[in-house]
Amino acid sequence: MCGIVGYVGDDAAPQILVEGLNRLAYRGYDSAGHALMNGKGIKIFKDIGSPETVGQIVMKEKVHANSGISHTRWATHGGVTPENSHPHLSNCGRIALVHNGVIENYTVLKRRLEQNGVHFHSETDTEVLCNLIAQYYEDFRAQGLEDAFLQSVFAGLREVKGSYGIAAMCSEQPGTIITARLGSSLVLGIGNGENMVASDAAAFCGRTNNIVYLDDGQVACLTGKDFEIFNLDHERVTAEICEMEAREEHDYGRGDFAHFMLKEIFEQPEALRNSMRGRFSSDGSTTKFGGLNLEAKDLRRINRILFMGCGTAWHACLLAKYIIEKLARIPVDVEYASELRYRNAPIPDDTLCFVISQSGETADTLEALREMKRKGFETLAITNVVGSTIAHEAGGGIYQHVGPEIGVASTKAFTSQVLLATMVGVYLGRLRDLSMTEGMRIVKAMHELPEQIVQVLQKTQEIEAVAKKYADFNDFLFLGRQMMFPLALEGALKLKEISYIHAEGYPAAEMKHGPLALVSPTCPSLFIAPEDDMIEKVASNIHEVKARGGPVIVVTTEGSPLCEEKGIDIITIPQTHEALMPVLASIPLQLFSYYAAVARGCNVDRPRNLAKSVTVE
Ligand code: M6R
Repeated sequence: MCGIVGYVGDDAAPQILVEGLNRLAYRGYDSAGHALMNGKGIKIFKDIGSPETVGQIVMKEKVHANSGISHTRWATHGGVTPENSHPHLSNCGRIALVHNGVIENYTVLKRRLEQNGVHFHSETDTEVLCNLIAQYYEDFRAQGLEDAFLQSVFAGLREVKGSYGIAAMCSEQPGTIITARLGSSLVLGIGNGENMVASDAAAFCGRTNNIVYLDDGQVACLTGKDFEIFNLDHERVTAEICEMEAREEHDYGRGDFAHFMLKEIFEQPEALRNSMRGRFSSDGSTTKFGGLNLEAKDLRRINRILFMGCGTAWHACLLAKYIIEKLARIPVDVEYASELRYRNAPIPDDTLCFVISQSGETADTLEALREMKRKGFETLAITNVVGSTIAHEAGGGIYQHVGPEIGVASTKAFTSQVLLATMVGVYLGRLRDLSMTEGMRIVKAMHELPEQIVQVLQKTQEIEAVAKKYADFNDFLFLGRQMMFPLALEGALKLKEISYIHAEGYPAAEMKHGPLALVSPTCPSLFIAPEDDMIEKVASNIHEVKARGGPVIVVTTEGSPLCEEKGIDIITIPQTHEALMPVLASIPLQLFSYYAAVARGCNVDRPRNLAKSVTVE
């Protein structure tokens, strides 16, 4: 949550910071701010509103500055007010700070600082850290310490309990930014005569592709010409500069699409091609992965798999269970990362632990991964963001390669996660009992999948019409059986998070055990019912809903018997291998939610109270 950008160099900092922060708006967008440094000290501009809105105000001011730190906020401590926005300035006016994370012992520190005469203007933990650093700075400065600023950051951080990614400036040391991380991602952008820091390398687009990933417990000191990295004991650490895949401005823009979510839905054919590229065996009967760091003989010994994730990624985990158990006959457990990390779950020795996370930064998923590593399990991750903390810390992994996902509602990342889990299923299956012919059938279907997604996308107008028809309802049920059950959960999450319609997902057969009581003319049910072994059973469930006056929408395959059903709305998708049906059936659900939210006038890309990466507990 929250996005940080810092710049120091020869160019005009305001423009670079505003553009960089706009690219991080997905991380939080309730308020934003900039601290700009020129010969006359630090100037702070901050307000409630999106980074774009606050950025316009800053640009109008035409401040001359060659360094600055900026922040886009997702509130944790204190409400959404201009005072609680970052950057914070210390009482003495010399230290400015932006912060992502939570300082857990901030009340104790605040009391102490207040006793020392510090006056607080906000309710934030960040202002406490800012003044803590400032107090040390005043002491060290009085002692005549040459590197008083750097020393004061070290001293402040040593007292802090919790998590942080910070960037700080000192009015008496212009042209220097000090940045540090513990549990909240930060990347340095190494340029020519300029250096940057950000929560996500997207902020560096168009300036540099050379980056350094800061590790937890590291502090970096940036000037325009140089950078140095230390551990918390102030020992110098050598850094590896990596060249990241060059990204263009359009990778981070909406193009002609009204929203990022719509753009990302439409990117899926290409995104899934990229997820699959280079990952098939030459005989076309199985899949292969470069980064697992586990030999086939090790994987054959695995007797259980544990998948962990949060939100949509958890739904991908649940689908992985259905798919891998079917293809590879390996028992799969699925846990919410947030629950598992605090539970002493008995996990058999020969378990392979897998986490799924688009951002690779979700705090609960990261901690669940660390807990499993600590217990000595083999760990793997499916992540999208290259160099993210989870990608870095997992024993091995699979990158999704779907490009930046900016819309808060996950779309292309989800389908890619499900597809990759299916590819893992094929791989593990082929190491066991999955026949060559069946392997070939699935691989062939995978090759056809992107084109089939295009066919579904061609039905956008039809789906939009259905979504508009139902957009005024306030309650929804999503129902499906077997692999369509996790998809029902995902469909319901997608609808509620962007349209604020209350929606619940259930296995269709569970209806009679409670949810059927909700069915009425004001509570529609959306069934995901491709033509498979379950279709007759789902048809009965549909009749049960219709008999009670519940409006029904059905997503089914072309030519299925449900297409003949009267008095319901039908959306059809092409037939594919059953293991790939969850991917294909996701597309109409995404479009349905999107258009329902648009019809209700919701801000699709920035749903209220949410942010893209949840880097706090
Ligand atoms: O980055 P991650 O995949 O770890 O994120 C997990 C969830 O926060 C995320 O999937 C969230 O549920 C999305 N907003 C759903 O669309």
